[in-house]
Amino acid sequence: MAMEAKVLESLLKEERAFPPPPHFVEKALVKDRSLYEEARADREAFWARQAENIHWFRRWDKVLDDSKAPFYQWFVGGKLNVSYNCIDRHLSTWRRTKAAIIWEGEPGDDRVLTYQDLYREVTKCANMLKELGIKRGDRVTIYLPMIPELPIAMLACARIGAPHSVVFGGFSAEALRDRINDCQAKLVITADGGWRRGNIVPLKKNCDEALAQCPSVEKVVVVRRTGQDVNMTAGRDYWWHELMAKAPIGCPPEEMDAEDMLFILYTSGTTGKPKGVVHTSGGYLVGVSTTHRLIFDIKDDDIYWCTADIGWVTGHSYIVYGPLANGCTTVMYEGSPDWPERDRFWAIVEKYGVTILYTAPTAIRAFMKWGTQWPARRDLSSLRLLGTVGEPINPEAWMWYYKYIGGERCPIVDTWWQTETGMILISPLPGVTTLKPGSATVPFPGVEAAVVNSSGEEVPLGSGGYLVIKSPWPAMLRTIYGDPDRYVQQYWSKFDGMYFTGDGARWDEDGYFWIVGRVDDVINVSGHRLGTMEIESALVDHPAVAEAAVIGKAHEIKGQAISAFVTLKEGIAGTPQLAEELKAHVAKKIGAIARPDDIFFTAELPKTRSGKIMRRLLRDIAEGRVLGDTTTLADPSVVSQIKQQYESQEA
Ligand code: WT7
Repeated sequence: MAMEAKVLESLLKEERAFPPPPHFVEKALVKDRSLYEEARADREAFWARQAENIHWFRRWDKVLDDSKAPFYQWFVGGKLNVSYNCIDRHLSTWRRTKAAIIWEGEPGDDRVLTYQDLYREVTKCANMLKELGIKRGDRVTIYLPMIPELPIAMLACARIGAPHSVVFGGFSAEALRDRINDCQAKLVITADGGWRRGNIVPLKKNCDEALAQCPSVEKVVVVRRTGQDVNMTAGRDYWWHELMAKAPIGCPPEEMDAEDMLFILYTSGTTGKPKGVVHTSGGYLVGVSTTHRLIFDIKDDDIYWCTADIGWVTGHSYIVYGPLANGCTTVMYEGSPDWPERDRFWAIVEKYGVTILYTAPTAIRAFMKWGTQWPARRDLSSLRLLGTVGEPINPEAWMWYYKYIGGERCPIVDTWWQTETGMILISPLPGVTTLKPGSATVPFPGVEAAVVNSSGEEVPLGSGGYLVIKSPWPAMLRTIYGDPDRYVQQYWSKFDGMYFTGDGARWDEDGYFWIVGRVDDVINVSGHRLGTMEIESALVDHPAVAEAAVIGKAHEIKGQAISAFVTLKEGIAGTPQLAEELKAHVAKKIGAIARPDDIFFTAELPKTRSGKIMRRLLRDIAEGRVLGDTTTLADPSVVSQIKQQYESQEA
């Protein structure tokens, strides 16, 4: 709880407020509160009006069907194609020759694709997929670095109605295997490798390892990126460039139902098994295009850059689908922010004249630590709007971002949302909302959020509790792939008729939301969600480990770091070498992002009489706090022993 206590403490002192600057308001898409009023008067009519910005082959019959709640349906009866909306409809306008994607590789190579170029590549890729036997409804797993082929493959899947499952390139072979098997993918698109700090991430090698245990996969398409030798299995593996050279241009878009699945994206939860979050077509596209346009105040001459990886939902919604549906120029960068030097982001802003930058608090804290000399080396005067996402931003980092990146002239939109919500739900509108550093401010028009107590009653303004969403929104997840019970259980059972976010929050006297962090066994490392159970299962999988408990410990840059308390099997000694081995084991099972920062060996773990591990007490120990209530423990002396052991291993 230290992180939460710290956030709360700093928030209580936070009194600075930043009204929208007049120069910004003057040109803003939204300048007044009328959208909020319009949405409050009739929420469904508001979303229906937003849906007019999308091209429908057939108009919907009903905006929202709640007859099977919580399996809500949006724009029922509507027919559309997401790739048609992101590409084809711009071709009959001047945007045909506008840059759709500006891509920069880590080694410094670059590529610009106009909307016409994107049309050519996506339709060729769609034909290639069809040729390989992919039909409407088949799942395709995409395991690629941040290269243009990634959005091209996603849009090609959308074009032929094959749901994609993008797996972040930082995940391990085993994590990839589990995600392929969960959705029974028929085809995998990968690359030989990707660049990360000058090193090659061996994607094809990981993929080969995974595929040894993936019977559903029939074919693999491999993009050549890094150029090293890779194994190609005859009859299964094909080079992207060879097939694309033969694929014809032009592929009619499938007419998809508004509720047909667009993609599955796996995210961590409170159990060991990642959840396949399902997003559909119509509501999702309406939600992401509307929020992208209005929150980022998108104009035709903007160069918009979201620094996330497309392997996460932020990249799906705000690098690919939202921006392209809006005919915007979206920037993509393959590599690391400190390669070759710590000014790489600022070099990219200068090189392309980026006007809108959307990044994560963890990155901002790293930039703060590296010093202002790095942004000072570059011309950042093109920037006019900044955004953050992924975790609460501490007011110090907000002020730094505001001053040294935004030159005190750019509003900052702190956007709260989740993989499950698909779109931003709580955020300022930059031409309307007065900003308070550290607050995601207020719900987007047409979104109803609240802070409730454990009985589901709204707490008074000025108090804290659980963050809930009181009514459905168009881009909401529709289910957990293959596990509808878990969908109901996880999100709709804690509070009657309301969506439970898993986050704690406070609303202040002005109704502003201050997100405090997760209230469940989920930790947020550098803006990435990891389940403690998932890491614990990976640890217990090691032959030396008897039991493990994982907690998030406050960390200056990452927000939270992973600390693991491990009990070993009889007769095994907890050596530093073993600690390293266990860290490597977790990285192998899940990926480098889940590698524990610290491993502490302990004779026992604190448990309740019913055997539940009390991670709260471990957090107290790790963060050096006075221990909380220990009366429910089976053996209260265990914690003081752990505390002693912890302190001796720390030293
Ligand atoms: C969790 C969702 C959605 C994009 C990235 C993460 C935390 C996200 C904020 C914010 C405070 C935030 C929440 C949320 N979070 N944005 N602006 N302020 N917290 O997606 O992996 O699904 O994680 O990230 O705890 O529940 P995700």
